[in-house]
Amino acid sequence: MIKFKTVRFKNFGSFGNIFTELQLNKNATTLICGNNGSGKSFAFLDSITFGLFGKPFRKINIPQIVNSINNKQCLVEIEFSKGTDEYLVRRGLNPKIFEIFKNTILLNQDAKSIDYQDILEDQILKMNYKTFTQVVILGSSSFVPFMQLNAADRRSVIENILDINIFTSMNVLLKGRILQFKETIRELNSRIETEKQKIIIQQGFIDTLQKKSTEDIKLAKDKVTQLNLEIVQLDTEISVLESDINLLEIKIIDKAAITSSIQNHNTLKTKIDSKLRTLVKDVTFFTNNVTCPSCSQQISQELKEKELQKSSIKQEEYEGAIADLTLNIEKFNSRIEDINNILKDIQDKKMVSLQKRTSKENTKKYLIEATKEIEKANYSTEQINIELGKKYQQVTTLSELESQKEEYRDEVLYFEYANELLKDNGVKSKIINYYLPHINKYINQFLSSMDFFAQFTLDEDFNEKIKSRHRDEFSYTNFSEGEKLRIDLALLLAWREIARAKNSVNCNLLILDEVFDSSLDSVGMDELMKLLTSVGDKSNIFVISHKSDQLVDKFQNLITFEKKNNFSRML
Ligand SMILES: Nc1ncnc2c1ncn2[C@@H]1O[C@H](COP(=O)(O)OP(=O)(O)OP(=O)(O)O)[C@@H](O)[C@H]1O
Ligand SMILES: [Mg+2]
Repeated sequence: MIKFKTVRFKNFGSFGNIFTELQLNKNATTLICGNNGSGKSFAFLDSITFGLFGKPFRKINIPQIVNSINNKQCLVEIEFSKGTDEYLVRRGLNPKIFEIFKNTILLNQDAKSIDYQDILEDQILKMNYKTFTQVVILGSSSFVPFMQLNAADRRSVIENILDINIFTSMNVLLKGRILQFKETIRELNSRIETEKQKIIIQQGFIDTLQKKSTEDIKLAKDKVTQLNLEIVQLDTEISVLESDINLLEIKIIDKAAITSSIQNHNTLKTKIDSKLRTLVKDVTFFTNNVTCPSCSQQISQELKEKELQKSSIKQEEYEGAIADLTLNIEKFNSRIEDINNILKDIQDKKMVSLQKRTSKENTKKYLIEATKEIEKANYSTEQINIELGKKYQQVTTLSELESQKEEYRDEVLYFEYANELLKDNGVKSKIINYYLPHINKYINQFLSSMDFFAQFTLDEDFNEKIKSRHRDEFSYTNFSEGEKLRIDLALLLAWREIARAKNSVNCNLLILDEVFDSSLDSVGMDELMKLLTSVGDKSNIFVISHKSDQLVDKFQNLITFEKKNNFSRML
């Protein structure tokens, strides 16, 4: 329960620069009187609603509450306790201030002033302006009775009193969360699509690389096989040539012997030729001469014939030997010709063999290059592995995104389910339906204690049905002002009873502004007074009235206001 203790104010409305302080929990009933314009409503209604909610009770703009005569700093301080905690709220204009003290310690003011106000309404008072005015104030001007509120405001007041507006706040938060999560899911969907596209492109790239690599490897391997075959082929050809050359060289193994024989034969033939010429000279000498030219001795016939015969035999011998030698030399020369032909053949074959070796060396070089190409193609397999790694990363990211999306989807499902529960027709309607009979019971009790005999029913949409004698199904507006006032009061008291039972918006203050003055007849006044004294055990009731002379002896305390020199003051 909130116990309001004091409110003090200065330069507020018609009040001047000296603090006016009102005790709010001293007397059970207080009558407030004073002439029109003496400052009663400013003091009891506007000061409290401005102090707590930052807006005056009357319908004026906030700056208009500053005293227009001195325009000095306008300040309202209101003290209350809740449980064991003591609170002080200070609010002012010129300059603007708003401070909340809990047990003399200023609450953290980092928050924006609207959040600071939320702290006061949601965490401390647990009621907003609308609910406060419905359970604390009953007045003539500026007061909108519950029955004249629209359906949404009626719901908000009742939810506040039943302390179930937390469900509405939760639902607002929940809706925000659902929207936020759906937005996240949309973002995730677009990231998932992007990731899928990336994977498709990456796979295409890998396929191209793989195809190219396979082709390159095959080409390079084919080349290696081809070159190896060429080398084997060349080796075979070279060894055939080698063995041919060997065979041919064996065939001319006699070359040196033949050459030497030709030389010997020629030398011999030259010698025999020379001997033959000497022999022909001797024959010619013996034929032509009869004396010896050197010793002039007579050459006998016998000698001559003997010599000539000897010479003839020798000549025959020599000529036979020369013929033999010539024949042999011819044979040798013919053999040399053969040998030369074979040598040329060998030369040719050696040439071919050399060419083949050169081409084998070149082929070997090509083979090394082709082998390197296989390595290069193998290197592109490494490249493929890197790209496969990148793809694996992308697939992992995709599955992470998808599982995140699933989590958010689940959350949204739960939240939507909770949202259903928290809707007006969900859990709240169960609670409201539970309390409605109690609310109706209280309203009817208060009505009957004011001798107003009607059956009042508030349905779950907070529409009223009022059955009274001879009139079926009346609505609020059908009733007279005095009757409406009784209904308003019955509702206000019913709210206070429910609030007390729920310990929700339960407070000690009850302020009635000119309720006794306008539409109540004398019977009504008595009934109302009776009712107030019966419910006022833990409340502090303040009644503002001009009928002080009729009421004064019914109250424990009297406060009078007057206006002097344009400023209001409390007497
Ligand atoms: N900003 C202001 N500065 C000074 N006076 C103001 C200001 N705003 C209103 N007033 C005057 O303050 C006076 C007090 O008004 P208030 O409504 O409190 O009187 P009241 O005692 O409730 O009168 P009533 O009995 O007619 O309801 C009025 O005369 C009003 O004209
Ligand atoms: Mg007034």
